[in-house]
Parts: sequence; C-alpha cells; structure tokens
Amino acid sequence: MKKSDTYTQLKKRIISKQAVVAVIGLGYVGLPMAVQFARKGFSVIGIDTSKKRVTRLKKGISYIGDVDDKDISEAVASKRFTVTTSAKPLSGCDVVIICVPTPLNRALKPDISYILSASKILKQNSRAGQLVILESTTYPGTTRDIIMPVLAGREGKAGKDFFLAFSPERIDPGNPRYDFSNIPKLVGGITEKCTCLAKTLYEMVTEKAIGLSSPESAEVTKLLENSFRIVNIGLINEFAHLCHKLGIDVWEVVEAAKTKPFGFMPFYPGPGVGGHCIPADPMYLSWKARKVGFETRMIDLAARVNINAPKHVVERISDLLKEQNKKIKGSNILLLGASYKENINDLRESPALDVIKLLDGKKAAWSYCDSFIPYLDICGIRAKSKTLSKSLVKKQDLVVILTGHSGVDYEMVAANAKLIFDTRNVAGKKGIKGENIVKL
Ligand SMILES: NC(=O)c1ccc[n+]([C@@H]2O[C@H](COP(=O)([O-])OP(=O)(O)OC[C@H]3O[C@@H](n4cnc5c(N)ncnc54)[C@H](O)[C@@H]3O)[C@@H](O)[C@H]2O)c1
Repeated sequence: MKKSDTYTQLKKRIISKQAVVAVIGLGYVGLPMAVQFARKGFSVIGIDTSKKRVTRLKKGISYIGDVDDKDISEAVASKRFTVTTSAKPLSGCDVVIICVPTPLNRALKPDISYILSASKILKQNSRAGQLVILESTTYPGTTRDIIMPVLAGREGKAGKDFFLAFSPERIDPGNPRYDFSNIPKLVGGITEKCTCLAKTLYEMVTEKAIGLSSPESAEVTKLLENSFRIVNIGLINEFAHLCHKLGIDVWEVVEAAKTKPFGFMPFYPGPGVGGHCIPADPMYLSWKARKVGFETRMIDLAARVNINAPKHVVERISDLLKEQNKKIKGSNILLLGASYKENINDLRESPALDVIKLLDGKKAAWSYCDSFIPYLDICGIRAKSKTLSKSLVKKQDLVVILTGHSGVDYEMVAANAKLIFDTRNVAGKKGIKGENIVKL
C-alpha cells in the first residue's frame, strides 16, 4: 500500500485530534487559544519565555482576565495542557502557533525582535512535516520573508515538506460576546495546501475559518481592521474637540447619528487610544507603505489626533479648574480608571499614563483608583491604587473618569465630588445627572 504524503498524514492527525499543538507566547492571545485547543481535545504545549507566567500556570493561576483559574486547572488536570519555558518540546509537535508581541520601538517603527527570537527557537527545534502559523499582528511579508527562510533552510519546500500560514488574531479582550471560539478565523497560507491545513485546524476549535489567497492578504486584512478603528477613533476624537468649541454635546450627536439604519457605525471619543494593537498595528502598515514609496496619510493623521487626545484632556482639566479659580499645580485630582479600556487589567499604551505624566509635569496632586491595576510605576514613583470612598472623593478638587470600569459606585462619586470630568460619558450612559458633571 502506498504511504500517504506529509500533507495527508498531518490533515488526518488534525481531524482525529492526534496532532500535538504548540503555542509560543502565552499572553492575551496565546493563552485563551491554548486553553481552547486543550478544551476541544488536543494535546497542547504552551511555551513562554516568562518563568513567572509559566510558574503561575503550573499552579493553575491565570493572569489574563478572559481565562479563569478554573479553565487553567481543568486544562492542566486533563493532562492536555502542559507549559514550559523550554523550546525543546517543539520538535515533537505537529502544529506550532506563534503569538509573541509585536510592539513599536522607540522610533515608532515595527519591533519584530520577538518574532525573530521565536524564529530562532523554531530553527533550532522544528522538524519536517510541521504546520507553522504566525498569529502576531505584523506588516505584510513577515510570514514569507522572515519565517519561511528559517523553515525552508532546514525542512525543504513549503506546501510539501512543511506548511506555513498567517492567521491574524482578532480577539477583543474583555468582550463577553465574542472570543476566540466564535470570531471567524482568517488564514492565508504560502500554498493552497498550507491554507487548507490551517483552515482545517481552526475549524476544529472555532465556529468558522476562512481561507485567503496568501499570507500577505491575511496580514493586511488585520491591519485594515485596525486602521479602520484608528481612523474612526481619530475622527470622533477630533469631532469631540470641535463639538466642545461649538458648545455641542458630542455624545448626543453620536447617539443621534446611530439611529440611521445604514451607513453609520458609532465610535466614541475618549482620552486617547491604548492597548497593544490600535496604537501600534497601523504603524506597521505605514512603515511598510513607506518602503514601497507610499504615504498612508489617513492613518498618520488619525494617529496624530489620537496621540494628542491626552493633551486635550489635560487642557480641559486646566480650563475646568480655572473656572473654579484653581490651578492644576497643587490641585487634588483623582483619576478613575487607568487601564486602556474597561474591565481589563491591560495597561499597555493606556492614555491614562500620558494624562498622569502631563498632570505630574504640572505638579498636580494626582492619585488614581483602579481595582484592575493595583499599582503604577510612573514618574519615578510606585503609585498605589486608592480605595474609592466618600471621604476620598470629597477631598478632590476634580475627579476625572478615564476608564469606565463596571463595579465602580459612580452614583456615590457623583453625589460627593465637587466636580467630575467624564471623558467616557460613563455618567450619561448610567443616567446619572448632576451640575457637577462635565463631559468631554
Ligand atoms: N492583546 C490583544 O488584544 C490582541 C488582539 C489581537 C492580536 N494581538 C496580537 O497578538 C500578538 C500577541 O499579543 P498579546 O497581547 O498576546 O501579547 P502578550 O504580551 O500578552 O503575550 C505575549 C507572550 O509572549 C511571550 N514571549 C515573548 N517572546 C517569546 C519567545 N521568543 N518565546 C516564547 N514566548 C515569548 C511573552 O512572555 C508573553 O507572555 C501581538 O502581535 C498582538 O499585536 C493582540
């Protein structure tokens, strides 16, 4: 009987869930995905360079809001999920999924050093016949130009001896409705067989997987999604600024525009954009665009507007205090919320950090409350989150709502604060009214 080829063998192993899946990078993206593969019956090896994270996972403790301790302990107890800092087990895996960070460097250019270090461990530990999938958000060409040469050097030809694809992660941490299991998964392989294998894999653990013609299409699709967000957030932040000058309530305007059943999608203003994705990903695209002599003017302009949003917030704070015959210098200013969005513990690129730095530079007596962020290392100090109480609120010259976490007693804040500057319209959304509340 003829021995089946590498592709057919791997496809069979995936469909029968015999395939062993390695996930490199167990963060906001990698950890929920690894747990989902284990839950669906695959053996999963999670590899992370952080000893601290691996130790916590071995004890059944999660550090990601979307994954419960119970999810981890169940996955570990089922013996389908093992975690390690060692890359050696990679050679025994059938599938390798890379979920390492892709930040910007100091010059605001793509920092693909984590992808390079993941490639290095792949080079040392991969074997022929594996399916490798890059999930980290990156500029078009990364899968083909960075990962493929590493594998091709050792394993032979893509689509025959090994399989390689890009599949963007589209999760929205903290979103109770959509998670890894029900957000359609896009895949673009180097060859049709690569796409087909990656699609088959994700179909085993998610509701829907869609094949694209190339890794580049999949890489750019993710960047289009995030560019769409950065541009629209930039537009609404600019609109908020304009509405303030015109004496119009921007929140009312967005709610009104939202009643149009087609052709409008609401975006909301705020103190700026944060997180690992929206501020960084479009910069990956504009960097790549410049390499081919193209200028991404919309993205660059929106990024500028958003970068200036914290400055605008501090200008408004200054104006509000002036109206009370006070200055920022020496005023007690309590900031509610520090993480970049509600109900998560992610502080990366949070606009709250820029607001704090600006206030600190103006010598404000600032403090903050955020049960998701127990402490902040900023402006040369370790600031601890205060416990929200009537007496704390009463002491403040101004309370600024920067992130609208649920579980905060905003009624109490509104009842006791001299003045509130609400950059997220939290009070409005909760129907809390008061002459002491000023919206962005
Ligand atoms: N966080 C999000 O909401 C989100 C959403 C969609 C896509 N993404 C993209 O997914 C990727 C991962 O983001 P994240 O938020 O999960 O990052 P993260 O920082 O939460 O996690 C990354 C993990 O990778 C580990 N790591 C770094 N280098 C490694 C290496 N060489 N080997 C093994 N482990 C390594 C880190 O220790 C960390 O635990 C990024 O490209 C990001 O843009 C993130």
